[in-house]
Amino acid sequence: MNAHRPRLVVMVSGNGSNLQAILDACEYGWLGADVVGVVCNKAGVPAIARAERNNVPVVILEPLAGEPRHTYDIRLRAVVQNFKPDVVVLAGFMRILSNQFLEHFPSRVVNLHPALPGELPGTHAIERAFAESRDHWRTHSGITVHLVLDEGVDTGPVLASEVVPIHIDDTLEIFSERMHEREHVLLVQTLSDLCRKISSLQESESVL
Ligand code: GRF
Repeated sequence: MNAHRPRLVVMVSGNGSNLQAILDACEYGWLGADVVGVVCNKAGVPAIARAERNNVPVVILEPLAGEPRHTYDIRLRAVVQNFKPDVVVLAGFMRILSNQFLEHFPSRVVNLHPALPGELPGTHAIERAFAESRDHWRTHSGITVHLVLDEGVDTGPVLASEVVPIHIDDTLEIFSERMHEREHVLLVQTLSDLCRKISSLQESESVL
């Protein structure tokens, strides 16, 4: 393994199609990084099998009944820190992270949000955008990849975003598929740019 290949930890909660895009991109050399760990907050979801098929270590860390958010986040932070990540990728991780977690990985947490910057924060953004389009006033939505600096929901400095059209004859399934296809490409491209920057920074530090 190249000493300067950034180490990614991918955090997931469900299907894991974006995790798969990252794993494939690493395997085919489109993304100069290694997924060193996957962390999932839900047992039995398809993302876990995707990681296992790619021989990536997976930790399933479910919240305990009634566990406060900050207590869970302290446990989560220990698990993630164990992988010594350069970048933590939230690829469909359906929990809001508190400062107990975030301050441990400053400017190193990247989130994928299925809407344009500042739009439709929270869950079901694809379904909400589609419903608005059926009310005849929304013609597009989009996707955003951004840094997570604080506890704001789907906010933070934008690394990349892209408009995704909603066509008049779309069904929710067709629109969702278009969104996911674009997410897979934009997330990999953005991580690739970020990892290139991290690699060159690490290289220049190592020659000093
Ligand atoms: C994606 O639409 C992502 O933008 C959102 O959750 C979904 C996860 O999809 N945050 P998958 O699990 O990667 O298939």
